[in-house]
Amino acid sequence: MSTQSSSNRPVKVTTQTVVDMKRQGEKISMLTAYDFTMAQIIDQAGVDIILVGDSAGNVMAGYETTVPMTLDHMIYHTSCVVRGVDQALVIGDLPFMSYQVTPKEALRSAGRMMKEAGAHGVKLEGGKAVVKTVKKIVNAGIPVMGHLGLTPQSIYQFGTYKVRAREEEEAKALVEDARALEQAGCFALVLEKIPAPLAAKVTEAISIPTIGIGAGDQCDGQVLVIHDMLGLNKEFNPRFLRRYADLSTSITEAVQQYITDIKSGDFPNEDEQYS
Ligand code: KIV
Repeated sequence: MSTQSSSNRPVKVTTQTVVDMKRQGEKISMLTAYDFTMAQIIDQAGVDIILVGDSAGNVMAGYETTVPMTLDHMIYHTSCVVRGVDQALVIGDLPFMSYQVTPKEALRSAGRMMKEAGAHGVKLEGGKAVVKTVKKIVNAGIPVMGHLGLTPQSIYQFGTYKVRAREEEEAKALVEDARALEQAGCFALVLEKIPAPLAAKVTEAISIPTIGIGAGDQCDGQVLVIHDMLGLNKEFNPRFLRRYADLSTSITEAVQQYITDIKSGDFPNEDEQYS
């Protein structure tokens, strides 16, 4: 975000900053990160929010779903990211079964994310079913980002990663869920893989920012998984994904060149060794 302090130094992005950005019509940029080095690069590039998503389960750990991720895994990844960030708002994802059992247990999980990882807030999935939980966490002073639409922690209930809420009934329930999450105190809402007109309706209906992934251009902001947008993950090709780099090819070529240089005796050369 372009906000500057009076001393002309960039200021830190807060939950209030992103709510104000919606009011002022400034779009919000969010990316995932899971480690110190990547977090440092994308923070210095100026991204507004860094989400330490449980998509770490897919792109860092190689699991098929996000379900196996534990709170300890997420605290580890979030703490690595926090150490690399100066300005962005860092949100730690609460993994499956760290907040679903009771609001009290959810608060403990959110508290660990704040105290042990240094997150600035947490994200959790679900609508009306998590309203009590959101209230409990928010009342303890912890900012909460909601997540509706395709919620990957429920993949075994959905059975597929297809677009959600195409049917009228599910769409109506999603709008109600969004209002309920706003009233419960969420400061922002991720909308994943829903029809663009529905995301536009939700965005209009609530005063907190919506951040879309596969939810069209009317959301208040956009999020992508960093591995996908940098082209590190070539097998994943959903319609909503725009690739901004082809790092998979760049890394392959660099490693192949390195191997060739070693085998030919070209590396290291005279300048690359100590006398
Ligand atoms: O885990 C994650 O990376 C997410 C984003 C895709 C929104 O939830």
